[in-house]
Amino acid sequence: MRILAIETSCDETAAAVVEDGRRVLSSKIYSQIEEHRIFGGVVPEIASRRHVECITPITRAALEDAKLDLADIDAIAVTHTPGLIGALLVGVNFAKGLSFALEKPLIPVNHIRGHIAAAYITFPKLEPPFLCLVVSGGHCNIVEVISYTSFRVIGKTRDDAPGEAFDKAARVLGLGYPGGSAMDKAAKLGDHSRFPLPRPKVEDSPYDFSFSGLKTAVVNIAHNASQKGESLQTEDIAASFCNTVAHILADKLFAAAKEFGHTRLACVGGVAANSQLRSLLAQYAERDSLKLFLPSFDLCGDNAAMIAAQGYYEFLAGNISDMTLNAYASS
Ligand code: KG4
Ligand code: ZN
Repeated sequence: MRILAIETSCDETAAAVVEDGRRVLSSKIYSQIEEHRIFGGVVPEIASRRHVECITPITRAALEDAKLDLADIDAIAVTHTPGLIGALLVGVNFAKGLSFALEKPLIPVNHIRGHIAAAYITFPKLEPPFLCLVVSGGHCNIVEVISYTSFRVIGKTRDDAPGEAFDKAARVLGLGYPGGSAMDKAAKLGDHSRFPLPRPKVEDSPYDFSFSGLKTAVVNIAHNASQKGESLQTEDIAASFCNTVAHILADKLFAAAKEFGHTRLACVGGVAANSQLRSLLAQYAERDSLKLFLPSFDLCGDNAAMIAAQGYYEFLAGNISDMTLNAYASS
């Protein structure tokens, strides 16, 4: 079964064709980063307008790459929640138009479920159940993946998502937007022991996260340096930040694995591309003799292939929508 998927939840306009949930025939992404960079973050209205302009060419390009026509597509999947509402509406409406014209099923996909399905593409034999850490610009969840379409959230962030924290810290350090990959690069050249940062705990919720204090700690370091007229030790601070975030995330994920008896773990989402996090998770997996599944780098950030992959399993579970499908900012 070939699914054409559309993803427009934030600042990437993406389309992909995936066969039977695992074989990527094409995956095209138009990133709007350049348009948003000067504002230091995603501007929702600009994002919506760019999606309107890019959605048709990117879909055409995905079909061309797959060497397929619309007539070869069996179903249309689309991200309908969570995300920027104006951005989501562009994708949902476009997918509805395709589904209506082609008389093919319309499959609504939750973006977070999509991130989890990225692991199915990189690891064709991976099947639920497993424990998954979803870490991106908007999300931070420890999720028990019970089946392809049934999930239990064990932990979540109480404030910022880690990607958001990365982006804010990067801005303070003058590393530009988006900050995650710049922090990752800078961290490789720094000493993580020079600026110890807090590892905030959430009272009575061992698997919940809090990242806002970390950002404040970086702001304070920068402020102190400027008051003393000292130059900012960007690389050391970035190293400390990456190391601290990696430990906060990995410690909770592995503790949850132990408590809930999971031997197979995954980590997905934009922040799962972080090299310090990937290596710490691999180190812990070896220590505890657990199996770790990390999607390839190109599948960590937003893309439509992961939406098509999850769409396949939603379709098998009978989760098909009619033409009243709507978009929702939060799920
Ligand atoms: O999954 P994603 O593309 O979009 C959301 O669903 O939010 O994640 C984007 C986030 C951004 O905050 C970006 O700074 C972060 O992922 N990110 C990284 C890295 N690459 C992207 N964070 C840390 N290290 C990286 N290498
Ligand atoms: Zn995402």
